[in-house]
Amino acid sequence: MKKLCGAKVTALGTYVPPRLLTNADLEKMVETTDEWILARTGISQRHIVDKGMATSAMAVEAVRVVLEKHGLLPTQIEAIILATVTPDMLFPATACLVQDRIGAKGAWGFDVSAACSGFLYALQTAVQFVQTGAHKRVLAVGSDTMSSIINYEDRATCVIFGDGAGAVLIEPAAENDPNVFMDFIHEIDGSGGCALNMPAGGSRMPASHETVDKKMHFVHQDGQAVFKYAVRKMAEVSETLLLRNGLSGKDIDLFVPHQANRRIIMSAAERLHLPEEKVVINIGEFGNTTAATIPLALESARLDGRLKKGDLILLASVGAGFTVGATLLRWGAD
Ligand code: UT7
Repeated sequence: MKKLCGAKVTALGTYVPPRLLTNADLEKMVETTDEWILARTGISQRHIVDKGMATSAMAVEAVRVVLEKHGLLPTQIEAIILATVTPDMLFPATACLVQDRIGAKGAWGFDVSAACSGFLYALQTAVQFVQTGAHKRVLAVGSDTMSSIINYEDRATCVIFGDGAGAVLIEPAAENDPNVFMDFIHEIDGSGGCALNMPAGGSRMPASHETVDKKMHFVHQDGQAVFKYAVRKMAEVSETLLLRNGLSGKDIDLFVPHQANRRIIMSAAERLHLPEEKVVINIGEFGNTTAATIPLALESARLDGRLKKGDLILLASVGAGFTVGATLLRWGAD
């Protein structure tokens, strides 16, 4: 078998729309309080798109940052793997819209549907293409316009989600470069599908007056069921990944988890014996942006000086599906 080459992250770009939806705004829209939202989720505000801006447009902004930072021409991109649960349309794939908008002529790509684990799944797919030598420059993108599928009369879901996008460039590493992707674990458990979904709009229940009247084109969530599963699996998958690499929490420089709920993150961090300074939490500022949370969290850590080239990073996620993921890498970008 051909020897695999190392794959590394060489650039990171993110985008959030400027408009804010604060807890104070939500207090005027549904029966809730800033205290409840902060205590139960850790969220203070979310960024929300203006009408007309869709998932591809945010992804394009994030990708442009990557290209500019890395001095790359769009035509040098060979593949675009884009994770989203809020594609511009059911088809064509949002990856195609992004490819066209940035002018990545010659690239191919596709969308990944894995909800909050979408970014990790897109990332690992990109990594495989580089490790096998099939491609030299692959974009992994997470972009979600959650505000387009949220019922702003449902206090149980509307306080949680926000909009945003993030992208990373994956390239081959030199032979002795230690800053590479090391290992990953992905799991899906479809028995949890009913706990978090958008019931209508697909082939099972196409859009009709009835589905609209019954508000079936919005996120439906059994919050407690998802919470319990997320608390258990985020820690479990992270611990297994560390163990099988001969590592423990103390070896990790930074834990960058999906941002669904501050309490889920802190519970995983506790089980991994990670001190708070090694845990990236930016949910307060962005809410849960589904496929964009991990790149947005990486960017927050980079900006506050906590994410540096060579750091040993553990990424972890749990999302609708259920989908679960954890990735271990040494950070390769500046
Ligand atoms: O990223 C995708 C994966 N998603 C997740 O990981 C989300 C996991 N779930 C959660 O984060 C939490 O379950 C929520 C934040 C969604 C809810 O928090 P909770 O502590 O599980 O609350 P709960 O659903 O058990 O509700 C407790 C109470 C209920 O009232 P009663 O029945 O006790 O009178 C709710 O009606 O809180 C009420 N409630 C609210 N009160 C004020 C629910 N939402 C709100 C609200 N403001 N926004």
